[in-house]
Amino acid sequence: MKIGFIGCGGFSQGNHIPNVAKNPNMSIHAFCDLNTGYLEQLGAKYNPSYVTTDIKRIFADSEIEMVICATKPDFRMPIMQMATESGKHLFVEKPLCYHENEVFPMVKLIKNSNIKFMVGFNRPYSPMMQDIKPLFKRNRKGNTTIIYRIIGEARLWPFHHYDAVVNKKESTIIHETTHIFDLINWLTDSFPVRVYTAGGGNLDNVITLEYPDDTTAVIVSGDNSTAGIPKERIEINTNFGSIIGDNFVDVSAFGFENVESFKKTYNYTVGGKVFNTDGGEAAEKHREWRKGLTLEQIEKGYYYETQVKVDKGHYGELEYFRSAIEKNLPVETGAVSGAVSNIIAWKAIESWNTHLPVELNFQQLTDSN
Ligand SMILES: NC(=O)c1ccc[n+]([C@@H]2O[C@H](COP(=O)([O-])OP(=O)(O)OC[C@H]3O[C@@H](n4cnc5c(N)ncnc54)[C@H](O)[C@@H]3O)[C@@H](O)[C@H]2O)c1
Repeated sequence: MKIGFIGCGGFSQGNHIPNVAKNPNMSIHAFCDLNTGYLEQLGAKYNPSYVTTDIKRIFADSEIEMVICATKPDFRMPIMQMATESGKHLFVEKPLCYHENEVFPMVKLIKNSNIKFMVGFNRPYSPMMQDIKPLFKRNRKGNTTIIYRIIGEARLWPFHHYDAVVNKKESTIIHETTHIFDLINWLTDSFPVRVYTAGGGNLDNVITLEYPDDTTAVIVSGDNSTAGIPKERIEINTNFGSIIGDNFVDVSAFGFENVESFKKTYNYTVGGKVFNTDGGEAAEKHREWRKGLTLEQIEKGYYYETQVKVDKGHYGELEYFRSAIEKNLPVETGAVSGAVSNIIAWKAIESWNTHLPVELNFQQLTDSN
């Protein structure tokens, strides 16, 4: 499948572009970005058919079947319109959008089109979550609590992101915690009914989500910590047992009937070298990497080449989308899922502002599905 890229910035260069390059079912056809320096480097490295600063050229190209868009979330609607008009399948990075007035028109646009559409909430497509979900589904019973930690180090971000979140007060609840809203919706096969937020507001929050079926999730999210400690961890407690997933590197489950004890580790890489260890050893590698960061690296703000790279599902999500296109299957993380995560984020922010829980209802969205 020939792929056209729109928005070839830091994230795409560190993930989607190399992932498409190594996928035997895909080939890089064209790069589009406004930054001609990026285009020059990427053209030399990946040898596409062409590079361009003109989005329209990508959508007019009859050879391109799927477009991967990794612009910022405030520039998606025009791209979605062009994709639906040209009949090209479209993958957009998360979150779906940034402005509240866009969310319903976007869902309507996709619903009335015949393209496949996916929002890049990648966590469900990680090998670790692919194991956790069936384990959870088989054993879920009674009151269920889910704790998710997603905590990093804001001062290591690229400046444009630091500026947006810390100085301009764009919220990490939209830029990052939406990932976890999507993940827990996917794990529980449901949408939350209530949200409550306490903490710092645009950064460093504790968010409680109440789900149907006696399930409650707490997300501890923020960036006033260190990248020397693994960023993410999930704990699910149900039916007198627990499932613990550490840093996409190891998962263990204990206490369930017929599950003597489940333990599995997942590959991760450091500088391209593959490792498969338990979470403790991976954590030690995080500490070493953090200690060794240079000022030059921090200035750039992207560390994909040197950091401990765990499999959060970035490769898997693109292959999943390609396969859904090929087999003409519905896409799990489509426009409605993307819209739901955006809406949870805005309601979580409302809760932080009012100090009150906020009710959630997605009837209008699912009806329009
Ligand atoms: N899934 C994840 O784990 C993850 C992690 C980091 C970032 N992201 C997401 O990826 C997206 C991009 O983030 P980033 O850090 O790479 O940002 P970035 O600013 O580095 O990249 C965005 C690129 O889009 C280009 N662009 C903007 N307008 C354009 C236009 N009209 N035509 C062509 N190109 C245009 C810019 O020149 C830039 O190169 C965001 O939505 C972000 O939330 C996802």
